[in-house]
Amino acid sequence: MHAHAEPGDPARGRAIVASRQQGLCLLCHSAPIPEERFQGTLAPDLAGAGSRWTAAQLRAKLADGRRDNPASIMPAYYSTEGLQQVGETWRGRTIFTAQQLDDVVAYLETLK
Ligand code: HEC
Repeated sequence: MHAHAEPGDPARGRAIVASRQQGLCLLCHSAPIPEERFQGTLAPDLAGAGSRWTAAQLRAKLADGRRDNPASIMPAYYSTEGLQQVGETWRGRTIFTAQQLDDVVAYLETLK
């Protein structure tokens, strides 16, 4: 793991989860983000995720959920391995930066 300038920030993490450009989480999940009207139903509600999982489990799931579930449709947000159908810009890069991963984990931990 990389050294980080700052610890994860839950407010920034919430913005990433809500974003249709960055996280895209709400394509599949719903979350307690009332201002976002269209939320997903393909995956478990993120409400309560901070009670169901430890920070380490949340981090692992976001980084690469294929370790728990090889058939998962959830994108591996912090992995460069075995990514298919990625454009030239993303090849060899992770979707999230280390800081974004920390921010999203910090937000999910608040969902008790
Ligand atoms: C393409 C659909 C999709 C997207 C996009 C997606 N997920 Fe998921 N996610 C899933 C599915 C399906 C599961 C159920 C377990 C599995 O298949 O891995 C899951 C599981 C999870 C879990 C564990 C849920 C639980 O409590 O049981 C968390 C936490 C999670 N996702 C967070 C996120 C976050 C945060 C984002 C955005 C950064 C995101 N997911 C984006 C499909 C998605």
